[in-house]
Amino acid sequence: MSHIRIPPGLTELLQGYTVQVLRQRPPDLIDFAVDYFTRLREARALASSPPATPPSFSQDPELGPGLEDAKLESETDEDEDEDLDVPVPSRYDRRVSVCAEAYNPDEEEEDTDPRVIHPKTDEQRCRLQEACKDILLFKNLDQEQLSQVLDAMFERAVKVDEHVIDQGDDGDNFYVIERGTYDILVTKDNQTRSVGQYDNRGSFGELALMYNTPRAATIIATSEGSLWGLDRVTFRRIIVKNNAKKRKMFESFIESVPLLKSLEVSERMKIVDVIGEKNYKDGDRIITQGEKADSFYIIESGEVKILIRSKTKTNKDGANQEVEIARCHKGQYFGELALVTNKPRAASAYAVGDVKCLVMDVQAFERLLGPCMDIMKRNISHYQDQLVKLFGSSMDLMEPGL
Ligand code: CMP
Ligand code: CMP
Repeated sequence: MSHIRIPPGLTELLQGYTVQVLRQRPPDLIDFAVDYFTRLREARALASSPPATPPSFSQDPELGPGLEDAKLESETDEDEDEDLDVPVPSRYDRRVSVCAEAYNPDEEEEDTDPRVIHPKTDEQRCRLQEACKDILLFKNLDQEQLSQVLDAMFERAVKVDEHVIDQGDDGDNFYVIERGTYDILVTKDNQTRSVGQYDNRGSFGELALMYNTPRAATIIATSEGSLWGLDRVTFRRIIVKNNAKKRKMFESFIESVPLLKSLEVSERMKIVDVIGEKNYKDGDRIITQGEKADSFYIIESGEVKILIRSKTKTNKDGANQEVEIARCHKGQYFGELALVTNKPRAASAYAVGDVKCLVMDVQAFERLLGPCMDIMKRNISHYQDQLVKLFGSSMDLMEPGL
C-alpha cells in the first residue's frame, strides 16, 4: 500500500479554517475561505517584511518570530479557547502619513479587529503583572480592557547599547519596563541631548501611537534589560479609545486646576492623555521623605497632609517624629519639589480620609509642565518661609531639601 505524506502545516491550516467556520458560522463557506486565506497570506507578508525597529521577542517555541507569534482571536469570541490561530487583521497597516491628532471616537471604525494574544507561562504573567501594576496609562482601564492588554503584551530582551526606539521612526509598540536602565535622547537643531533616564521602572513609546506622529525621542538601553511590548493596534484600540473617555471625565477638573490655567487647551488635554488616577485611603502614605521621586500629584478629591521628620523629637520606638507642615486640597498639587530640584523627597505625604489623585510621571512632568515651572518655583520659594513661620528660626527638621 503506497504511503501518502501529509505536507507539514496542512493539518494546522485546515484546523484553523475549520475553527473559524465553527465560530463565525458564515453563510457561504467558499467566500469565507477566500477571505480567510487571503488574510492569512497578508499576515505572512506583513510578518516577513522588516519593521523599522526590528522587534526581538522572547518566543513561545510553538510560534514563529514577529507578528506570527501573536495569536489572534476574534473580539466576539472572548470566552473560547485562546490557543487558536486566526488571521492578522488587514487593518494592521503601518502609519503612512503624519497627522498630529489623537483619537477621535466619532471617526473610529467599529471595533472588529481580532484580538492579539501572546501566550505566557504563569511565571511570565506574574512578572508582567508586577511590571504593569504602576503603569499610569493602564490605571483607568476596566478589568476586561486590562486583561486584553496583558494578553497582547510580549516579552522583549534588550542588550546594552541597543536602540529600543529611534527618534523619527514610525511607532510600532508601546513598552513597559520590567528591568534595566535606559537613556532618553532628543535631537533638535542637529544637537542631541539626554533629557532623562528610566531606572528599572516606567514605560515609554506612547506618544507616536497616541498622536500618529514619528517617535519623539531615542531610547537606548544602558544595561541589559527586559521590556514588555504592546502592539500599536491593541494600544490604539484600548488605550487611545480609553483616553477619549478620560478626556471627557477629567476635562472640566483639569481646567479648574490653578497651576494649569496658563496652558493652552490642547496642552491640558495632553496632560489628561498621560495621567493616571490613583485612590488612597485614610492614613495611606503617598510619598515618603528621603525616597527617590518619579511622580507628580494633583488632588482630584480629598485632603493630603505633608509631614517632615524632626531631627530631635523621637517616637517610643526611637524613630524620628513627623511634624505636619502643610495641607493640600482639591485642585492643589504636591510632589513637584523633588522633580524640580532632582533631590530625594523633602517631606512625606499622607491621605486624610479617602483621596483621589491624578498622577503624572517625571518624564511627562518635564515634557508638559515646562510652562508652569515659574509658578511652581515661586511656590517653592515660599516653603522655607512657611517652615520658619511654623517652627521659628530654631527649626530642627530633617533635611527639608530646599
Ligand atoms: P514616542 O515618541 O512614541 O517614542 C519615544 C518616547 O520617549 C516617547 O514616545 C515618550 O514615551 C518617551 N519620552 C520620554 N521623555 C521624552 C521627551 N522629553 N520628549 C519626547 N519623548 C519622551
Ligand atoms: P517633594 O519633595 O517632591 O515631596 C514632598 C512634597 O511636599 C514636596 O515635594 C512639596 O510638594 C510638598 N511640600 C509642601 N510644603 C512643603 C515644605 N514646606 N517643604 C517641603 N515640601 C513641601
